Amino acid sequence: MSAGLHEPGNEPTTHETLHIDWWESLWIRISTVVLICFSAAVFYATTQLGIQVPGVHMRIDPTTVNDPAKSPFANPQVTQIAEGEYEAYVRSQIWLFTPAEIRIPVGSKLTMYVTSQDVQHGFKIDRTNVNVMVLPGQVSKMSHTFTEAGIYNFICHEYCGVGHHTMFGRIIVEDEAMIAAATATAEAVAAAPTAAPAAAEGAAPVASAGDAEKGKALFVTCAACHGPNGEGVTGLGKPFTTSEFIASKTDAELVEFLKVGRAVGDPLNTTGVAMPPKGGNPALTDQELLDLVAFVRTLHQ
Ligand code: CUA
Repeated sequence: MSAGLHEPGNEPTTHETLHIDWWESLWIRISTVVLICFSAAVFYATTQLGIQVPGVHMRIDPTTVNDPAKSPFANPQVTQIAEGEYEAYVRSQIWLFTPAEIRIPVGSKLTMYVTSQDVQHGFKIDRTNVNVMVLPGQVSKMSHTFTEAGIYNFICHEYCGVGHHTMFGRIIVEDEAMIAAATATAEAVAAAPTAAPAAAEGAAPVASAGDAEKGKALFVTCAACHGPNGEGVTGLGKPFTTSEFIASKTDAELVEFLKVGRAVGDPLNTTGVAMPPKGGNPALTDQELLDLVAFVRTLHQ
């Protein structure tokens, strides 16, 4: 009977067949306006603010992430690719990022490639919109332009085991004053009196240029793997109480060692567990490392 609808006099009139309550009509209009606003905001954020959803840059075999022939993550580092543009490869593993410290000049655009060699981690940079999950087998890529000088911590924000809370690093965005200060600190450490290598067995611990009391307060970073009294933890960290290595090194040598740590691939690594740079706390300054060395020397028996 549909043909009959088009005969004169049979046209439906809106107010008879489609009654919309005033309130319902109002809400339909509000919903429509809200959807238009959301769409406009997404369009503006994408085209004007450059906000992007981090994508999968590429796939990678997590078992060969440490193979220099197959992976740019074997020796991950920061490189300058153009004026004001830097590129960083960051490898995640339990429980550290390599590199844990990235230095770039203020105003630089940093593009980061991040992957994991073991389990699921996270990568979030404080005070930026960089925030991704880091999955084994996947390389995540994201960029950020750092227009303000300062220290931006990045953290693992996916629970990845007992050392999860120690997994972080930092990006140091330097202006000229910060570069000058860093140079001055490096010179001060180089000029610090170096303690003589260990004396014969039974001799008093070697004197150190650091402040052992302050070092004691910082020792919590080391205690996680080396035990609360430096007695060592089987399968994690070696004991300090009997360490010939510590006794045979000068303060400056130990500070240099602490800054680098000891990766699993290092032939001198005898535990099979990575010693992360600065024990996993990249916030430690050179002076604080000196203080830690001073305290660790007091543990030697
Ligand atoms: Cu890696 Cu939490």
